[in-house]
Amino acid sequence: MKIVLIGYMSSGKSTIGKHLADKLFLPFIDLDIYIEKKEKKSVSDIFKNKGEIYFRLIEHKYLKEILISDQKVVLSLGGGTPCYADNMNLINTANTISFYLQTSIKELVDRLTKEKDDRPLIASLEDNKISEFVAKHLFERRVFYEKANFIIKTEGKSKSEIIKELNVSLQ
Ligand code: S3P
Repeated sequence: MKIVLIGYMSSGKSTIGKHLADKLFLPFIDLDIYIEKKEKKSVSDIFKNKGEIYFRLIEHKYLKEILISDQKVVLSLGGGTPCYADNMNLINTANTISFYLQTSIKELVDRLTKEKDDRPLIASLEDNKISEFVAKHLFERRVFYEKANFIIKTEGKSKSEIIKELNVSLQ
């Protein structure tokens, strides 16, 4: 069985995923890092040199590769993964439990403004445009995110509170 964490960029998928995996003594896979290792290039470089369509193709390919293996694992996806190539149905029909880490737009914008250089989709936006971009983008994406088995609201909660909630849903 795989525990899959879904959510917008900067929603805490990787941090929470790593901690949850440690707590459950399971291996942890961050899909972006998996892609970077396989392609020997950063996600930013893949976007820059080969474009987003190519990125979505390999993202789908590597997601399938991970889902097909019978490894028990905690898997954090990229923010866009559930929204392309029927990935969300693929996730839900594999042997998985999926969680959407739901974060407020304000919290996402605050974090993304500080971290935007690592995120090719927003790297070229001026700071005062990030809020509008995130609001629209999240509106388009939430239908996919909401297909997760559980929705965990993370606003104002500590890492350990979030992990406790995930654990309760896993019982
Ligand atoms: C993306 C999110 C990124 C990464 C890529 C595209 C997206 O992952 O996969 O830059 O479309 O939201 P994080 O959510 O880990 O930042």
